[in-house]
Amino acid sequence: MPFLTDKKILLGVTGSIAACKAADIASQLVKLGAQVHVVMTREATRFVQPLTLQTLSRNPVASDLWETPTAWPPPHIELASGADLFLVAPATAHTLACFAHGLAPDLLTNLYLATRAPVMLAPAMNSAMLAHPATAANLTTLRLRGHAIIEPAGGMLACGQEGQGRLAPVPEIIERITTFLS
Ligand SMILES: Cc1cc2nc3c(=O)[nH]c(=O)nc-3n(C[C@H](O)[C@H](O)[C@H](O)COP(=O)(O)O)c2cc1C
Repeated sequence: MPFLTDKKILLGVTGSIAACKAADIASQLVKLGAQVHVVMTREATRFVQPLTLQTLSRNPVASDLWETPTAWPPPHIELASGADLFLVAPATAHTLACFAHGLAPDLLTNLYLATRAPVMLAPAMNSAMLAHPATAANLTTLRLRGHAIIEPAGGMLACGQEGQGRLAPVPEIIERITTFLS
């Protein structure tokens, strides 16, 4: 059922091994009727081909802050305005740190500062990285800023260790989005 018709979702994808799951997230959101605009960090493009996400989202994928603009306003402002949701799934420790501290080295982090859409973040990382006081403090900052954090799941991590840090299951992420937007 197209619960999300006319909803514009900015889907940020960062350099986690879970980046491949963003393809499923984009595909499911499109099937629910959403307009999905994917923004990848440079590191995310090492894990997933932009063409995959472009095809599934049915929109061009942006990743380069310095690409010569072909339209005005430039993409980092255009994409930020009018979004109903700014979702980052998966969100790396690095990108969460940038968001928490207002650092803007790339397109996704610039968009974070430029958008006024509600923010939903789905962290994914090794359990030690997740438990590190720096990451914990950054997540606390982001929660206090009013952002929704989709808690990582426990289980076998890609690195072979057991623990907390897996990207939340895709159905849970979709459920959180539909509940929030509909
Ligand atoms: C194979 C591999 C898997 C990685 N998986 C993760 C991960 O799941 N979560 C994470 O925070 N960083 C992970 N990293 C490290 C990030 O890719 C690295 O911190 C990068 O700078 C993140 O950049 P970004 O946040 O701009 O995408 C991984 C690195 C490699 C080489």
